[in-house]
Amino acid sequence: MNYTPADNRYEKMSYNRCGKSGLMLPAFSLGLWQNFGDVDKIANCKEILRTAFDNGITHFDLANNYGPPPGSAETNFGKILKEDFGGYRDELIISSKAGYTMWDGPYGDWGSKKYLVSSLDQSLKRMQLEYVDIFYHHRPDPNTPLEETMQALDLIVRQGKALYVGISNYKKEEAAAAFKILKQLGTPCLIHQPKYSMFERWVEGGLLDVLEEYGVGCIPFSPLAQGLLTDKYLKGIPEGARATKNLFLKETDITPEKVVKINKLNQLAIARNQTLAQMALAWILKDKRITTVLIGASRAEQVLNSIACLDNPTFTSDELATINAILG
Ligand SMILES: NC(=O)c1ccc[n+]([C@@H]2O[C@H](COP(=O)([O-])OP(=O)(O)OC[C@H]3O[C@@H](n4cnc5c(N)ncnc54)[C@H](OP(=O)(O)O)[C@@H]3O)[C@@H](O)[C@H]2O)c1
Repeated sequence: MNYTPADNRYEKMSYNRCGKSGLMLPAFSLGLWQNFGDVDKIANCKEILRTAFDNGITHFDLANNYGPPPGSAETNFGKILKEDFGGYRDELIISSKAGYTMWDGPYGDWGSKKYLVSSLDQSLKRMQLEYVDIFYHHRPDPNTPLEETMQALDLIVRQGKALYVGISNYKKEEAAAAFKILKQLGTPCLIHQPKYSMFERWVEGGLLDVLEEYGVGCIPFSPLAQGLLTDKYLKGIPEGARATKNLFLKETDITPEKVVKINKLNQLAIARNQTLAQMALAWILKDKRITTVLIGASRAEQVLNSIACLDNPTFTSDELATINAILG
């Protein structure tokens, strides 16, 4: 069936300025790391993407290696874009990345100019796009000069293959060094993509301050700790949940200690009249240095559930203290 986006889609979402740039991003962005590969059902992928866009999510996050198999998330996204979103390219922010292992040999990994430029060319072909809106270096490379990696990002923008650039998984010192080089090159860094959730708070140890200092936006990934910070694992591991795949989230990650914490957090979420997922997302968005929170979803209903966190986004100081006490 042909898809016509909801007329009122922009009334349902709030949009935040990304650092000191001109770009506004939705409070929620959708990532296609999981659930959009060739192993997944394309009808479900479509439903998730349509639901997201119908509710004001304009930003979709990909990477060269998303699948499985690697590359298939971009290929599937490209097909759906063509079929459903053909007339809406100018209403979409599409991101891709390179930095992890993608193809054999010395040019399919890490941070050389050779890898980044050729990988983005492949991503554009897979997605059937002329350009991406944001291109990231996916992880720092200890063996390539940072200048070379940043020159590659700058080149890609000058070639018209990306409008903005970002970095991901860089620690605060590495990030600051990258921001300085990019500024000198005339292609300021738009955004940083770190892992951040109630269970993983390293960004609070200085990275967020650095982003604010340099006027760079922040898009935390795995804000629900891959589903741990939801009501899914309160009483064991349900069939079909990500932990049953034992790939990136393993059954052994659901430790008794974590389950106790999740149950206590869930009680607080119920008292706040929201789901644990909603509370965990609101908790990230409460910091004004966060531009947009990057969620994943295996079903369209999860997108709807997650974004309803905007109905109760604030915390009392007592609630924040309780959360800190639970997290320990
Ligand atoms: N830059 C990087 O290095 C990097 C690394 C990882 C991810 N990312 C990006 O971040 C995105 C999000 O990562 P993520 O998928 O780990 O995020 P997440 O939001 O922490 O986890 C998503 C998973 O949580 C469950 N879930 C989501 N909403 C729910 C809800 N409302 N109620 C109950 N369960 C819910 C689903 O699990 P089930 O599948 O079990 O239903 C879903 O697949 C990725 O797609 C990718 O774009 C970037």
